[in-house]
Order: sequence, then structure tokens, then C-alpha cells
Amino acid sequence: MSFSDGSITTFLGLQLLLLFFCFLSPATFSDATIPSTLDGPFTPVTITLDTSLRGKAVDLPDTDPRVQRYVTGFQPEQISLALSSNYDSIWVSWITGEFQIGMNVTPLDPTSIASIVQFGTLGDSLIHTATGSSLVYNQLYPFEGLLNYTSGIIHHVRITGLQPSTVYYYRCGDPSHGMSKIHHFKTMPASSPTSYPSRIAIVGDTGLTYNTTATISHLVQNSPDLVLLVGDVSYANLYLTNGTSSDCYSCNFSNTPIHETYQPRWDYWGRFMENLTSTVPLMVVEGNHELELQAGNKTFEAYSSRFAFPYIESGSTSKFYYSFNAGGIHFVMLGAYIDFDRSGEQYEWLKRDLAKFNRSVTPWLVVTWHPPWYSTYTAHYKEAECMKVAMEELLYSYGTDIVFNGHVHAYERSNRVYNYQLDPCGPVHIVIGDGGNREKMAIEHTDEPGKCPDPLSTPDAALGGQFCPSNSTTTGAFCWDQQPPYSALRESSFGHGILEMKNATWALWTWHRNQDTNSQVGDQIYIVRQPDLCPPYNVTT
Ligand SMILES: [Fe+2]
Repeated sequence: MSFSDGSITTFLGLQLLLLFFCFLSPATFSDATIPSTLDGPFTPVTITLDTSLRGKAVDLPDTDPRVQRYVTGFQPEQISLALSSNYDSIWVSWITGEFQIGMNVTPLDPTSIASIVQFGTLGDSLIHTATGSSLVYNQLYPFEGLLNYTSGIIHHVRITGLQPSTVYYYRCGDPSHGMSKIHHFKTMPASSPTSYPSRIAIVGDTGLTYNTTATISHLVQNSPDLVLLVGDVSYANLYLTNGTSSDCYSCNFSNTPIHETYQPRWDYWGRFMENLTSTVPLMVVEGNHELELQAGNKTFEAYSSRFAFPYIESGSTSKFYYSFNAGGIHFVMLGAYIDFDRSGEQYEWLKRDLAKFNRSVTPWLVVTWHPPWYSTYTAHYKEAECMKVAMEELLYSYGTDIVFNGHVHAYERSNRVYNYQLDPCGPVHIVIGDGGNREKMAIEHTDEPGKCPDPLSTPDAALGGQFCPSNSTTTGAFCWDQQPPYSALRESSFGHGILEMKNATWALWTWHRNQDTNSQVGDQIYIVRQPDLCPPYNVTT
């Protein structure tokens, strides 16, 4: 090759490089029709409630074909995927055998059915095999008249050695008892500042009503590569053990000595979700509806047993908090219903996790837990204040970019905020607990006359029951008398969100309301990182 040929090649290369950087430049994403956080902070906006959209808060009945068992014997059902800590590994989970419910139940032997996944990059050649473990869990109510539950056999297999951004085909089961049909999934991109999943769906407080099915149907149409569920999953604890529903969670079923649940609702949820979860990884964090206290002070049995979590891979000793990478994003999932104090194990793990994640490899830091710190709805107002007091500075010090929460059944997006003050280096907090469960929408705001709760009524026993005083208003009052400056937009409507990272500093967030078509949006904003403005610093405590 001659020198001149090389020059032309170099020139063309430079042109392409310039085009590439033009494409990635902030100006490209600064569409005049879509605001960015660089335009903020925004004047608070409340979208007026359309009461016709509160929806049909009715659960799918057990006769609905979408929740019925469609397999026989020990064939796999309720197949779901979860990411491991990196692209090269993924969890496959499923259930074999029927659950039992009654006064006397006999747990299945989990070792009687093998846990095998056959997989490969060609659908007709599943040349790799991985094996895993299995378990059953029981939800026992040893009280007169209450029914006990024992699950089918729950299998978890971690498959490893995967390539990034690659489609794999798989089937799972026990060859002696029946394998599933062949499903497929796509691995996450390798972690780098230029590689991201195309679309990440975020949904919360799902339950399984006709509103939920609308939410999930809409979410599926948006073709996510990954789904985050920010807690409150099946709402099985809104049922008595005999399958009778109860609309009153706080009634505590005063004629029984313990809070009942109807665990088959978990199986219904797993069956309904299977079309999505067998193809798209689902990452879950625990909500209060997963607590499900049973005899012997056991809690979170269904939640801990049914889902796979990359907690060991991410250096955690608990299924209630873990982290993982998806392309250039580091996700941290925190537990609100276990110890979050600065002297506790979770806080120590969080410090370690944040200290070791490499911002030059995963520029984005997205953190998730269930009850929000920045919500202005009356429901659950400041319930998680003690968690906020313990953890907010640490998350801020590492430049957390976005926080997703559920718990409040509505939508709210904050301006960048830290310690209740507008702060260009604070995260954007997004409440997305509007998945559509039967407890209906949150519609009252604390800044409306008569809607501010008594401060001493706000601590939640499940969150430690402590009251942590804090000054969140300019007057020292417990609530604002108008929508607070940190609240950018709030609306009571069902929906889900889609997060699209465009590069190392720009991400597009879109809230899709159930009543909208795919081309309409309820809220849309570019969330822009400014790492030069907001360097990390060390928290000394
Ligand atoms: Fe909740």
C-alpha cells in the first residue's frame, strides 16, 4: 500500500471518527422537544388526576387461563431468567411438580428431580449443559382452620461461559421427566462506556390485576432487554389461606393469630409472567408485600425461594441486596426491610461495592430499593426516612445517577436532589410503583390541605419502626404547603418506564402510561451525567 493510499484511508477514518463523535455528542440528544436535566431544576408540575383511569383493581381469578398450570407431571413451568453479576453468566429458574395446599401437606423431595439446562447459540444444537440446585419452601400456619402450603420443586441453575450481546437458546428440566420447549435470551453487552442494553424496563408494585396485565402487555410491546421490578410482586398476602381475598392489608385479620397469605397467587404470577421472564432477565428487589411473616418468625420465604439473585457473585451474603453490571451500568439493589444502619452488614457491603466498581468501565450508577425517600404523596410519606438518614450520603458521595423506587402507587420524578435540597450532583429519584396492583392508585399529596400525615404515624414497623426527624421544608413543617421544589413531575396513573442509555453521560427516561399508545409518552427526559462537576468523595463514617 502506498503512502497516499494510507493518507486517504486515514482521512476517511478521521471523517468517520468525527461522524461517530458527532453522533455521540450531547447536542445530538438535546432534542428541543425533549428536556434534559441540564435544563433543570424544573418548576414542579402536578398532572390532574383523571378518575376514569383508576382502573379495574381486580385480581385475575384462578379460573383465568393465563394463571392455570399448563404442564403435567414434573414438566417445567414458571421459567424465568435473572442476570448474574456480569454478561458471561445468567440464572435460569423454573418449577416442577404441583404445589399442595391443605391442613396436611407433604413437601416434595427436591432431590427427586434434576436441575438441568441445555444451551447453545444454535437452536438445533444445544451443546452445553449446566446443572444447579433445587428446593421447596413451605408457608405454614399451624393454627386451627388455616391451610398450609408447600411449593412445587423450585430449580435454579447458573449457566456460565457466555459471550456478550449474544443470543442463546436453551431448554430446562430433567430429561427423565420432561424438558421445556426451547426458549432464547440475549446476553448483556460487555461492560464499557460505549456498550449498553437497548432498553431497560422498570416496573413496580405489580400484583396481578387487569391493570397489571395492561402494564405488562405495554411493557412487552416496548421490547426491553432487561426488566427491573422494584418490589411488591404477587400480593399473595392480600388473601386468606383458603383463597378468599381481603382488600384490607392493615386489618391484620384480627380473628387469626397471624397474617395469612394465599401462596398459589405466587404461582399464578409466575405463570402469567413466563412469556416475558423466560426470554428477558428479571431483576427483583424485595418490597413489604414479600415479607409474609409466618410461624416461627420466618419471613420472605416465597421471595427468597422463587427468584435467583446474583448476591454471592456480587460479594453479598444476603439475597436482599446485591449488584450487577449491564453494559456500562452498575446496578445496586438495596434491601429496605433488613438492617440498613451504618453499623450493619448491608452498609458495609454497599461501601465495598461502591468502592470497587470501576467508573471507567461502568460510568452509570443506578440504585434501586422499594420505599422511596423522595415522594410527595400522602401514602407512605417519609416511611423510609431512617434508611435515608443512614444511606443517602454514601450514595451521593459516589455520584449515584438515578434512583428507582416503588411502594407508592403513582408516578413521580424528582429534580436532582440531595438531603431535600436541589443539588446538581444529586440523583434523579423516580417513583414507579404504578404497576397496577389491587390496592389502587395513590392520589393524595401531602401538600394538599388536610393531607399531611401525623409525623408519629409515619414510621413503619417493617422498616424498623423508628422515627427519624428531618427538616425537609423551609418552614420546619413536616409537609410543604405546595409541591416541593425537589418534585419535578407527579401524576397518578398506571404505567411502566423505559431507560435507554445513549452514551456515558446521556440517558433517555420515558414513562409510558397504560392509557397511551407506544408513540405517546407520559414523561420523557434526558438524564445527563456531569462527572467533572460532581467528583466522588469519601464518607468518613
Ligand atoms: Fe410496598
